[in-house]
Amino acid sequence: MAHADIEGKYFLSYEHIHLSVRALAEKIIASGFDPDLIVAIGTGGFIPARILKTFITKPILTVGISYYGPDRKPTETPRTIQWIDEVEKKLSGKRILLVDEVDDSRVTLEYCLRELLHHSPAEIAVAVLHNKKKEKKGRIPPEVSRYFAGEELDDKWICYPWDALDITTHEKTARSGIIQS
Ligand code: G4P
Ligand code: MG
Repeated sequence: MAHADIEGKYFLSYEHIHLSVRALAEKIIASGFDPDLIVAIGTGGFIPARILKTFITKPILTVGISYYGPDRKPTETPRTIQWIDEVEKKLSGKRILLVDEVDDSRVTLEYCLRELLHHSPAEIAVAVLHNKKKEKKGRIPPEVSRYFAGEELDDKWICYPWDALDITTHEKTARSGIIQS
């Protein structure tokens, strides 16, 4: 499915997101990786993780990490909004699939992977809906066995439907490729 690429931004519809998640799930299943748990990085990873569960039926745990402030500028370091706390012990010995919407600078992903690795999982894989083709500031630690991206995109701002204040206009824009006024 084509992306509406308008004035340097991608506009993605809910249907597009659902199809991308299905393609991502197919890649994960074809690889033979069979997670025990999905860990979603909030908030961007929440909706992709839930759609993923339609195709890979595993429990979802969530963590909240924020790297961008309200002005869309990165903060000094990723901030933990919520961590798994009392369920952390559930991670030990488990195969974990870490899900987020976008691999941008990779700083949040690296931070989150390092935290999860402290809890002795059997295996960790990463699945992102979109990987931006750019130089990355963060690194995927070598202990991480697999990396899956639904789509590889140019380094442009992605407008996700869940951020839309006016979803009707967003969906029309994403479908027509024309900014609706
Ligand atoms: P990474 O490790 O996954 O590459 O993430 P990075 O630290 O670079 O920062 C991720 C933050 O930037 C996330 O927001 C993510 O949603 C946001 N982001 C990066 N590129 C885009 C984009 O093209 N479109 C949109 N809509 N967001 C983008 P956050 O503030 O950390 O939290 P949240 O928005 O997930 O709640
Ligand atoms: Mg995010």
